[in-house]
Amino acid sequence: MILAQSVFVLLLTAVLSTADSDEFQNGSLPSDNGFPETSEENCSYHDVLGYLKLTTDNSLFTMSRPVKHHRRTTPVHLQMALYAILDVREIDQTFISYVWIYMTWTNEHIQWKPEDFCGISNVTIPNNALWKPDLTIEEMIEKDKAPPSPLLQIFYNGTVFYKNDQVIISTCQMRVYKFPFDTQSCNITFRSILHSGEINLTVNENNSEITMWSREIMLTQYEWVFISMSVDKHLEDNLGCIQTSVIYTITMKRRSILYCANFLIPILFLLMLDLASFLIPKTGGEKLGFKVTVLLAVTVMQLLLNEILPSSTDTIPLVVLYCIGIFGLMLLSLMETILVMYLLEKDSESQDSEGDPAFYAEQNDKIIKLNSRNNFTG
Ligand SMILES: *[C@@H]1O[C@H](CO)[C@@H](O)[C@H](O)[C@H]1NC(C)=O
Ligand SMILES: *[C@@H]1O[C@H](CO)[C@@H](O)[C@H](O)[C@H]1NC(C)=O
Ligand SMILES: *[C@@H]1O[C@H](CO)[C@@H](O)[C@H](O)[C@H]1NC(C)=O
Repeated sequence: MILAQSVFVLLLTAVLSTADSDEFQNGSLPSDNGFPETSEENCSYHDVLGYLKLTTDNSLFTMSRPVKHHRRTTPVHLQMALYAILDVREIDQTFISYVWIYMTWTNEHIQWKPEDFCGISNVTIPNNALWKPDLTIEEMIEKDKAPPSPLLQIFYNGTVFYKNDQVIISTCQMRVYKFPFDTQSCNITFRSILHSGEINLTVNENNSEITMWSREIMLTQYEWVFISMSVDKHLEDNLGCIQTSVIYTITMKRRSILYCANFLIPILFLLMLDLASFLIPKTGGEKLGFKVTVLLAVTVMQLLLNEILPSSTDTIPLVVLYCIGIFGLMLLSLMETILVMYLLEKDSESQDSEGDPAFYAEQNDKIIKLNSRNNFTG
């Protein structure tokens, strides 16, 4: 029995050892995730970068525009989507938005064949390893505090893809004539800082596409309703050098319901209250005090407008005219009350001094009667 077992174990080990030696003879090592580890094929990103001689120290890649002939232009394809409307400040005319910016351009010094590198078609590399177009946003008045996206993606055919999420604090001329029923449109203009003809900005999408796209990803709109976004390409003459610029125009409408509820309707109520005070009996100062109080309430409401509306408008906004109109009506009614009270006062004074003829006649009658009665008794 024991002999049989030991013979079996011996057989088993012999079989296993021959299997091992077979594998060694085949020359491939089993690896942990099932793929064979090969050293002769170029299957890692290192190999691609080594082939391109692309390192962050290689300043040739970062210093100049990547073209093989200096007369060739670099087309930069731009795409922007509005992710959120964070704030619109009428008083200092700023528009704060959160956007996604996609940029694609061609680097002619980057090229490899995916077949030579196990089918690797793109590599993600640090932002500072390559030249980037020097695009700027003209309306931007404050630098974005968030750091830019740290990575770039390069494709085998030389296409470089860069995506950046950015908070844009831009200046925007607000038209507040119809406040709070206004629609604002703000421009975001992309332009190269220095290059004139060499960088050619392009946009492939049409207006309805970019509007749809922004509408899909829109997260928050603050007190505004996003209406549409349009894009336009311009040729600008900037001190003699002709530059292309891409202008995105964002159109949005204010949600005015809260302004109606908190401002326009209460003022109308105050006017009605003022008119109703004509029914208060004319017992002097009470009515006058009431009217003055209501008038002050309107003045306080009007102060609110001062904090919202910019003082840079040339035309008086309709809402201000509305306030002035109601204030004027109340002022008239107050003055009328004062006048009526003055007239009444004057009237009663004159009654006291001159007297009423009928009153006197009555008094005379009484005196005559008293006299005649006295005569009878006396
Ligand atoms: C390069 O390849 C990418 C990905 O396949 C593609 O989107 C892009 O259009 C190509 N660029 C050119 C110039 O062919
Ligand atoms: C925005 O750009 C358009 C051209 O696309 C221009 O007509 C308009 O005046 C610009 N608006 C502002 C406020 O600059
Ligand atoms: C915009 O592009 C889409 C898809 O490419 C197309 O269906 C649509 O008709 C275009 N709209 C306009 C106004 O050109």
